[in-house]
Amino acid sequence: MGSQWGYDKTHMRAKHEGYRSRAAYKLIEIQNKFSVIRSDDNVIDLGAAPGSWLQVLRTMTHARVLGIDLNPIADLEGVETIVGDLTDPEVQELARSMLEIVNVIVCDAAPKLSGHRSYDQARIIELNEMALAFAVKMLKPGGNFVIKSFQGTDFPGLYSDVKNHFYSVKTCITKSTRKGSTELYIVAKNFSG
Ligand SMILES: C[S@@+](CC[C@H](N)C(=O)[O-])C[C@H]1O[C@@H](n2cnc3c(N)ncnc32)[C@H](O)[C@@H]1O
Repeated sequence: MGSQWGYDKTHMRAKHEGYRSRAAYKLIEIQNKFSVIRSDDNVIDLGAAPGSWLQVLRTMTHARVLGIDLNPIADLEGVETIVGDLTDPEVQELARSMLEIVNVIVCDAAPKLSGHRSYDQARIIELNEMALAFAVKMLKPGGNFVIKSFQGTDFPGLYSDVKNHFYSVKTCITKSTRKGSTELYIVAKNFSG
């Protein structure tokens, strides 16, 4: 994995195993390493389209699973969805009205990239901060939060903001992340409020 060949192989494997995207393996790996989702957890997935994390989440918990994305998500049995912007207060209110108790929030959201590294990094961190604010508003104390980010000058600030709200915070570079990518996940456990 990591090489272009590995990338193609993971893509083929996802297709073969019926996942909507190869991103499925990233969440599976994070769960295997960090046990972020328990079988009775209500989970919100931010930036959920096309829905491979939702497919995986559906197998990890028997409680509620809610996906939010700017783009519509094709129907998945036992999964609720909202089409909207995770930063929009109305979307947040709708999510709150659908799920009173939120135990885990996962976020794989990423804005469309322009190719200008520093500009893109700033936009990603801005979206990350909005997702963190969403999590802080919604999560039950003791809850867990997983978020995709990218290494760069603004990353340490985000990392320390996450640390202000969780007792345990770690980073994880998944095996199926493309070689040369600065992508990484923050895995934050035990929300302190
Ligand atoms: C890499 S994809 C997520 C893949 C997904 N985890 C899966 O397994 O299928 C990133 C998603 O983030 C969504 N996104 C970006 N900005 C968003 C925002 N402000 N609100 C909601 N979704 C957003 C995009 O529409 C895109 O579908």
